[in-house]
Amino acid sequence: MLKDKKKKIAILISGNGSNMAAIADSVEFGILRDYYKIVLVISNNSDAPGLEIAKLRKLPVLCIDSKQYAKSDFENALLRSLESYDLNYIILAGYNRILSSAIVSRYEKRIINIHPADTKLYKGLHGYEWAFKEKRDETTITVHWVDEGCDTGEIIAQKNISLKGLKTLEEIKKVCLAVEHEFYSQVLRDLAII
Ligand code: GRF
Repeated sequence: MLKDKKKKIAILISGNGSNMAAIADSVEFGILRDYYKIVLVISNNSDAPGLEIAKLRKLPVLCIDSKQYAKSDFENALLRSLESYDLNYIILAGYNRILSSAIVSRYEKRIINIHPADTKLYKGLHGYEWAFKEKRDETTITVHWVDEGCDTGEIIAQKNISLKGLKTLEEIKKVCLAVEHEFYSQVLRDLAII
C-alpha cells in the first residue's frame, strides 16, 4: 500500500501505554506496517509512563492533562487537537475517561477500544481485578467501537483466555496483557483489509 494511503490513527492513553507500544511495534515492523500511520499519541495524564515510551519511540506526542482543566474545556481541547489531523481512526489504549458526545458523534464508528473483559459481563476499570476476585476460569478480551457509554459500544471482536493455573493478579495481568497486545493489532489489521 502506498504510504499516503495508510490510515491515520491517533492513540489515546492514560497510563502504562503497553498497548500503544505494541501497536507502534506492529505499525513500525509488524502486521500493521502497510496499513496504518500513527500521527499522534495523546495522554490525558502528564504522569503516564506511556508518554515517555511514546517520546522515546519518537512518536508525535501531546499531553492534555485532564487534571488541569474543567471537564468541558478538556473535551474541547481534545476535540480541537484531534480535528487538526485528518484521522481515520482513534484508538483508545488504556484511556481512562469517557469521551464527550461531541467527540463520539464527530468520529462515529471510528473510535475503537480494548477492554480486558467481556463487556457484556463487566464494564469499567479494573477488569483483571474483577476476574481475579471472582475467581473466574477464563476471561474475554473485547475490542469494541466506542459510544457515549462506558464500554457499551458494539463489539468488534473477542478472544477468550483461560485463567486456569494463574494464581495471582500479577500473573493474570502479565499473561492477558500479552494476549491484548497481539489481539489488538490483529483486529486493527482485519479492519484495514475488509
Ligand atoms: C488494558 O488492560 C486495556 O484492556 C484496558 O486498560 C489496560 C491498559 O494497559 N483498557 P496499557 O496502558 O495499554 O498498558
